[in-house]
Amino acid sequence: MTIEYLEEVDSTNVYIKQYLPTAKDRIVCAKRQTGGKGTKGRSFLSHEGGLYLSVLRFYNDFFAKDAFQIMAHAAVSVCKTAADFGVKAQIKWPNDVLVEDKKLCGILIENVLKGEKIEASIVGIGVNVNNDLTGLNDIAIRLCDVASCELTVENVRDHLIAHLQEEIYFNEYVSYIGFLNRQVLVIEGEKKQLAVVRSVREDGNLEVEMSNGMKILSAAEISLRLDV
Ligand code: BTN
Repeated sequence: MTIEYLEEVDSTNVYIKQYLPTAKDRIVCAKRQTGGKGTKGRSFLSHEGGLYLSVLRFYNDFFAKDAFQIMAHAAVSVCKTAADFGVKAQIKWPNDVLVEDKKLCGILIENVLKGEKIEASIVGIGVNVNNDLTGLNDIAIRLCDVASCELTVENVRDHLIAHLQEEIYFNEYVSYIGFLNRQVLVIEGEKKQLAVVRSVREDGNLEVEMSNGMKILSAAEISLRLDV
């Protein structure tokens, strides 16, 4: 796999799209981003010291209904990377990786679809390693503050790239979910309801137990609060 290292870029997700016509897998890493993109149209703070990378992958026969596997693979790769540095990370379904209930990493996936299939995916991963988190200290956490050994961004990057090239199994994703059997607040537009999370299905939907029985929830429709 070709790996490109940049000092600065607006967004590795945006930059890597120029390689879509090549049909060749590629990784782009940047030391900092000036226009880091988050989910739901938000921006992603990307000061030097963090790890910002995007993976462009092409598929021959990958159905869009299985798209959640891409997210699961990225999130597990980050958890395994944290474990390499002595840190127990957990996944906040669907796409955040937390340590001590604070955000260590965000993942933004953009898929290129053709009919029912995914032709290519861009997996953007941003990890707080030793970047300045001023203003975010209550909600975000850096790997360097919790690691049991010395680390550099380059070191963490290389571990992550190695894990991204391994195969993972869906039960690994489920094993890293931090809030199974815990009470959470399900936010669906204006509606807020308490629920106990029972499982995550391979299609990415969440199985929760509510006062009126079991329900299947989709990430596109709801968000969760864990501190209830
Ligand atoms: C989120 O938590 O909202 C997702 C954040 C994803 C950030 C990464 S950093 C590398 C890649 N480039 C971007 O512009 N965004 C992703």
